[in-house]
Amino acid sequence: MTMSAVSSLSLDPPQFLACMDNRAKTLAAVAHSKAFCIHYLSHEQRDLSNHFARPANDRFNGVPFRMGDVGAPIIEGAIAYIECRLAHILPGGDHSIVIGDAVAGEVPGGEPLAYFHGGYHRIQQ
Ligand SMILES: Cc1cc2nc3c(=O)[nH]c(=O)nc-3n(C[C@H](O)[C@H](O)[C@H](O)COP(=O)(O)O)c2cc1C
Repeated sequence: MTMSAVSSLSLDPPQFLACMDNRAKTLAAVAHSKAFCIHYLSHEQRDLSNHFARPANDRFNGVPFRMGDVGAPIIEGAIAYIECRLAHILPGGDHSIVIGDAVAGEVPGGEPLAYFHGGYHRIQQ
């Protein structure tokens, strides 16, 4: 799923958090598989961001990806990704705070896709 509520959490151990709507199918999938992969999208992946924000039966159909070591899909073309093993799911109102132990990742680099004021933007140096 497309997310903006994602953050680094801890350095030792290395952890990330993501705040997921309690109704999100991704939350159930993460609770079941105990793994997830956070991708930081490139400015060229706006359509992919919209795609993963819409309900679909098989969102990965037609999306180039490979399976990572933790058993979560790694999508091609992201400027960075972090493979996480599920550590905790904490209550957060109508969302859940999903905390993962970062076990692997890569930073291929590139220009990020930014989202604010209800739209996508480029961050130019
Ligand atoms: C830019 C953007 C940011 C979003 N951020 C979040 C978020 O942080 N948490 C969340 O629960 N949903 C967020 N969403 C909405 C989900 O992507 C959307 O509800 C998605 O369809 C959930 O998919 P799922 O039910 O298959 O998991 C965001 C959507 C967009 C377009």
